[in-house]
Amino acid sequence: MMSRRAFVGMVAAAAASAGAKLGGPRDAAAAPGVRTIHLDARTVSWELAPGRTVKAMAYNGRVPGPEIRVREGERVRIVLRNSLAEPTTIHWHGVDVPNAMDGVPDVTQKPVQPGETFVYEFEARPAGTRWYHTHVQEHRQMDLGLAAPLIIEPAAAEPMPYDRELTLVLDDWATGTAEALPPTREGTAGGRGTMGGMMGGMMRGGGMMGGRSTGGMMGRGAAMHEPAYDTMTINGKAYPATEPLRVRKGERVRLRLINASNEHTHVVRLAGHRLHVTHTDGNPLDSRVAVDAIPIAPSERYDVVLTAEHPGAWMLHCTQPGHAAAGEQMQVLYEGHSTAKPAPAESSLDGLRLWHYELGRGRQILPPPRGATQTFDQTLSGGMMGSDVWTINGKVWPRTDPLALARGDRAVVRFRNQSMEAHPMHLHGQSFRVLAVNGVRAEAPIVKDSVDIDGHMGSAVVELIAHNPGDWLFHCHKPMHMDGGMISLVKVR
Ligand code: C2O
Ligand code: CU
Repeated sequence: MMSRRAFVGMVAAAAASAGAKLGGPRDAAAAPGVRTIHLDARTVSWELAPGRTVKAMAYNGRVPGPEIRVREGERVRIVLRNSLAEPTTIHWHGVDVPNAMDGVPDVTQKPVQPGETFVYEFEARPAGTRWYHTHVQEHRQMDLGLAAPLIIEPAAAEPMPYDRELTLVLDDWATGTAEALPPTREGTAGGRGTMGGMMGGMMRGGGMMGGRSTGGMMGRGAAMHEPAYDTMTINGKAYPATEPLRVRKGERVRLRLINASNEHTHVVRLAGHRLHVTHTDGNPLDSRVAVDAIPIAPSERYDVVLTAEHPGAWMLHCTQPGHAAAGEQMQVLYEGHSTAKPAPAESSLDGLRLWHYELGRGRQILPPPRGATQTFDQTLSGGMMGSDVWTINGKVWPRTDPLALARGDRAVVRFRNQSMEAHPMHLHGQSFRVLAVNGVRAEAPIVKDSVDIDGHMGSAVVELIAHNPGDWLFHCHKPMHMDGGMISLVKVR
């Protein structure tokens, strides 16, 4: 007899092999030298876990959508067909696409109407863990599943060794079938250990936050309109429907972690093991960094290598209060331990070393500046008294002041967060270096495309070398905040 869990696992495995990956040779058709991929956005019913089936929106009928894998520099053509009953677009998050391919409705293209197709074409760069998602009504369409990995394999050798790899997309769902989880408010100090913004640090120091837990104690007063997330998934499934990772002793498994959640920071941990961070938002570090857990803000990615050196049965899970119980966990089973039961997930972070931005030493992969240096201050605020207005320098999009740059210019952008909530600020079209966080300067800045700015007076300074011409959004990746106005435009001429 097969257990229900084993059966669910098999179904997931079958689905994974039946079409999880796009980009193989069979997709190489038509135009020579161009890899053509077809995506169809449509509604499906999707089983998150036994008894929890939701009406989702999906690319090619899967949640998350199919993983696209291409080579760095390869020309990619993606034909999007919109079979939804509403407009949509695709944004290629972390890819240096030409501006017209960026997928921002009414900024870089017209929304793709129901029944229409739109052809995206670009050279896949830079290498790394990228992803793609809708950029229309993200608070609905992303919540319902329109997101997927885009893996750009480097043309040169991988900088850090591993034996095999697995992509894990973290997401959250409001299904109305269980009790809602507390929102992530302050950020996990953006993954910055116990530093946090000034206030956050004080509050944590004072014990109000219950160690490093985030948000739970603050109540839900600050934003009344956000969805009641009650289910957390890894690759579209909530535990026990998550597929176990089976490993052999000594194997090095690279995990590509993508946080596709609209609202929550996830703190990923594998019991019994350290995880070695190798890439931040897809961009390689100089050398790997061993940590016990990794806070991942919305839209961030981390690549980590797990060395299987501690045989047994373990849980890989989120340590945020309630998340593992809501489904965000999966078993890691060593050969010979496949019937063992892992110990239940623990949310305590006491004594654990957490990833934070200053731990990484970045590689110099961005172009050197040729032009002038310009400094921009971006003060983030809003959400006062439960309002849904979120501002940059006191203004809401589209009235925010653009950051005007010439190609080759170096821009230093200084973010300061006067609101109570963390803001993962994402720049379209090119990546940046994180020069300083909460007043601490980085010795060797890491390269990212999203930087989480702590609530309660958190700050960050980023540096970008304007190399991709066009109009690019620089916005908070939480759709509630984005819709509330927290967007500026970086104009590169
Ligand atoms: Cu990941 Cu403007 O988006
Ligand atoms: Cu925000």
